[in-house]
Amino acid sequence: MFASVFVLILGLCYSSQENSQPVLGRPTLSGPSVVLAGTVEDFECELQVYPKNETILLQLYKVGHHEEVLAEYTLLSEEVAFFPKVVKLELEGNLECMAKAQNNSEIEPTVSSPHYLKVIVPVENPNVFISSGLQEFFAGRTLDLRCNVTSGNHVDYTWLLNGRPVSLTPRHKAVEGQLLITSTTSEDSGVYMCVATNYYNVTEFFTFNSSEIIIRVKDPVSKPDISFNVSKDGSIYYAMVTCQSMRGTPPVNFTLFNGTAQIDSLTAHETKATFRVSLVLGQHLGQLQCKARNENRTVESEWIPLEVVPVRGPVTLQYDSDLGEDYAVIGLRLYCKAAKGTHPQYQWFLNETLIQEQGSFSSMVHEPRQSVLLLSVGGSSAGTYRCEVSDSFDNITAISSRGLYLDREVLNRLPLMVVVVVFGSFMTVILVVSVCCCYGVLFRKREYGENSLWSAEMVRRKVAYEDELDVSEYQEDVDLVQTARGGDSDQTSEDSVDEWPQILKRRRTLEDEAEDED
Ligand SMILES: *[C@@H]1O[C@H](CO)[C@@H](O)[C@H](O)[C@H]1NC(C)=O
Ligand SMILES: *[C@@H]1O[C@H](CO)[C@@H](O)[C@H](O)[C@H]1NC(C)=O
Ligand SMILES: *[C@@H]1O[C@H](CO)[C@@H](O)[C@H](O)[C@H]1NC(C)=O
Ligand SMILES: *[C@@H]1O[C@H](CO)[C@@H](O)[C@H](O)[C@H]1NC(C)=O
Ligand SMILES: *[C@@H]1O[C@H](CO)[C@@H](O)[C@H](O)[C@H]1NC(C)=O
Ligand SMILES: *[C@@H]1O[C@H](CO)[C@@H](O)[C@H](O)[C@H]1NC(C)=O
Ligand SMILES: *[C@@H]1O[C@H](CO)[C@@H](O)[C@H](O)[C@H]1NC(C)=O
Ligand SMILES: *[C@@H]1O[C@H](CO)[C@@H](O)[C@H](O)[C@H]1NC(C)=O
Ligand SMILES: *[C@@H]1O[C@H](CO)[C@@H](O)[C@H](O)[C@H]1NC(C)=O
Ligand SMILES: *[C@@H]1O[C@H](CO)[C@@H](O)[C@H](O)[C@H]1NC(C)=O
Ligand SMILES: *[C@@H]1O[C@H](CO)[C@@H](O)[C@H](O)[C@H]1NC(C)=O
Repeated sequence: MFASVFVLILGLCYSSQENSQPVLGRPTLSGPSVVLAGTVEDFECELQVYPKNETILLQLYKVGHHEEVLAEYTLLSEEVAFFPKVVKLELEGNLECMAKAQNNSEIEPTVSSPHYLKVIVPVENPNVFISSGLQEFFAGRTLDLRCNVTSGNHVDYTWLLNGRPVSLTPRHKAVEGQLLITSTTSEDSGVYMCVATNYYNVTEFFTFNSSEIIIRVKDPVSKPDISFNVSKDGSIYYAMVTCQSMRGTPPVNFTLFNGTAQIDSLTAHETKATFRVSLVLGQHLGQLQCKARNENRTVESEWIPLEVVPVRGPVTLQYDSDLGEDYAVIGLRLYCKAAKGTHPQYQWFLNETLIQEQGSFSSMVHEPRQSVLLLSVGGSSAGTYRCEVSDSFDNITAISSRGLYLDREVLNRLPLMVVVVVFGSFMTVILVVSVCCCYGVLFRKREYGENSLWSAEMVRRKVAYEDELDVSEYQEDVDLVQTARGGDSDQTSEDSVDEWPQILKRRRTLEDEAEDED
């Protein structure tokens, strides 16, 4: 009810105004939306509906700045006002055109919708400077680069490192003309440049390269590794102690310590230093450590004992094997080891020919305490193997192991042993079961007071079988065979291989006995 009355009143007001007042339409403002600063541009304000007997004034303003009239125009007979303007940067923003009746304050002025104007000042002479200060610094600090242009607005900045765009990550942030790199690493080192660009339109733009600036992020030195080799100079022996860090920007100061006493120190232009320390063979000469330092960070290596023991025999040669399907030997590992020696070097021979480090059927792994020769079993790998150990610093005295004859046939007798063990175990199980049965029968007979000769015979037999077939004893025998092969440096394996027929014989005897029993 109230609403309809309100609408009615509104309608009456409007119609009475329309009747008494001439109508002033809304002007429309048009013109370029992107302009270069300094050029002269025309803006047009068009008013289609206005009372013809009034003087109409059109004025150009910036939205919200009506105190400053940018241009004005009195409409006479035409409907379009032209505002030629020399574009200054200050003109940028929302413009609007206002129409009003000059001598009739009763007519309400009308305003156009805003027209946005972007003013481009071409970019010029970008310049990079280091806001964080240092051009050379240690990793971890923040690098703050700024790109300043002497003139230009709406500038897009691109940062280049060594000619390639800097990829932005959580550590690399680019905002306006600033490049901020936090937790720097040495990978952030290089030549930085900024490229400042502003666009007039897609095809017309202004771009400038800045000057280049070199940033050097230095790595603190990492924990060094310490090791030494022995070298011989005439009759005097030296330890060449190497201290080496994986990372670190030179110069690095390396210091070598014997316990708490400083032996030597040098400043290296790499992350590695070598010290020469004279030696007495076979004597413990203290504990060595090196310290590495760059900037104000010092890191320490582990301690290593300085002791050089020459190689001493006997040299043992052992092997173990990889079994494929069907228990066939497919790979072999031969181990060569000297009883003593801190700096051994190894050589392997097949049929008295030196085996190369990487052969077609072999490869070597030299560990500090032993050398391992890995063989794939094939026709060409058959022969007599032997290794020699000498001091890495003095190869005059080489100590040899015994020879070990190996071929596929020798090796593949190995499964026979498995067969024997398995067969033996199986027999034992059968025996134990049958003995239990017999014992049960016997026990029951004894219960009935019957003590037969047959059962006594069985007990005796059981004892005999157990003596011969004790599985653990068998396995021990097998171990013995292996250790005898490995441990004895004078015997060749051809001897030990001869033991197989004995085992075979033993197996056959067992089978015979079993048959006898049947
Ligand atoms: C123009 O005409 C209107 C009536 O149409 C009148 O009210 C107004 O006073 C006139 N203005 C002038 C300046 O003559
Ligand atoms: C309107 O007013 C201006 C002064 O404000 C005067 O110069 C002009 O002659 C007037 N025009 C008319 C049509 O009354
Ligand atoms: C770079 O520009 C900023 C502001 O635009 C100014 O404060 C600063 O002094 C300028 N720096 C240089 C080195 O020109
Ligand atoms: C700006 O630097 C880039 C990359 O080094 C180069 O390809 C380009 O030609 C340079 N532009 C100017 C104008 O020197
Ligand atoms: C960019 O501006 C230039 C100069 O005003 C003009 O010749 C060109 O056609 C414009 N290109 C586009 C894609 O608007
Ligand atoms: C020690 O010997 C090894 C192997 O021959 C070699 O790689 C290393 O460079 C040597 N180190 C020194 C300090 O001579
Ligand atoms: C390296 O550092 C040690 C300990 O700080 C110092 O005694 C020595 O003089 C330095 N050596 C060099 C070559 O700078
Ligand atoms: C290290 O110091 C011990 C005594 O503390 C000394 O016997 C030994 O010879 C020293 N070693 C070296 C390589 O100087
Ligand atoms: C030395 O180290 C401290 C802390 O480890 C660091 O704050 C300082 O900046 C370093 N000094 C220099 C000259 O880099
Ligand atoms: C090594 O000698 C044996 C005979 O003693 C021979 O059967 C074998 O083929 C030889 N091996 C090589 C690689 O020459
Ligand atoms: C010892 O080594 C040197 C150089 O490495 C080599 O020329 C020489 O043949 C080797 N001597 C022996 C017996 O292996």
